[in-house]
Amino acid sequence: MLNMVVMVSGGGTNLQAIMDAIDNGTITNACIKAVISNNKNAYALTRAANKGIAAECVTRADVPDRAEYDRVLLETVQKYQPDLVVLAGCLVVIPKIMVDAFPNRIINIHPALIPSFCGTGYYGLKVHEGVLSRGVKVTGATVHFVDDGTDTGPIILQKAVEVKQGDTPEVLQRRVMEEAEWIIMPKAIDLIANNKISVVDGLVRISE
Ligand code: GRF
Repeated sequence: MLNMVVMVSGGGTNLQAIMDAIDNGTITNACIKAVISNNKNAYALTRAANKGIAAECVTRADVPDRAEYDRVLLETVQKYQPDLVVLAGCLVVIPKIMVDAFPNRIINIHPALIPSFCGTGYYGLKVHEGVLSRGVKVTGATVHFVDDGTDTGPIILQKAVEVKQGDTPEVLQRRVMEEAEWIIMPKAIDLIANNKISVVDGLVRISE
């Protein structure tokens, strides 16, 4: 059984997709031990509570010093002894001490096709604003392992989504979530939970 901690910051639709996938069998051999948020107002916390999943908040308001915050965040995650840490709409910069504690055991969902529209400054709606201002015709989402860069770890899964004439950033964000994020995040977790993923020379291999 793959024990997970899911880290969130906002609406929690990716968390909901994971919980639903566990319920309907899309994800097997995995369970969520806790949901941890850096934002007390994250609706993701309500989603966790509705499912009876343990939820905690670690906010910078509570721990203003950055180094101390990073240590408290890591301790909070480690308390649940996860095999996998899942960043699901998580806007916290994951500290090096956490990446080092969980090598190739932290995954993130990015709402673009890495290496496009990623890295510092590309998060949330800003990703889709960049996509629309560049005029690309295809975007999508990426699930990747987290390393000590920003959106630079080994890519696990990607799914393309059409950009349509007249799209606003909000409309495009929703389409990328519905048609890509909520599909590839559960799929990636199921592959990991069933030992189908390995990383060789920095590249992900998926065994059938
Ligand atoms: C999603 O677009 C996700 O890719 C990004 O944050 C947005 C909200 O995610 N990281 P969620 O609804 O909180 O899962």
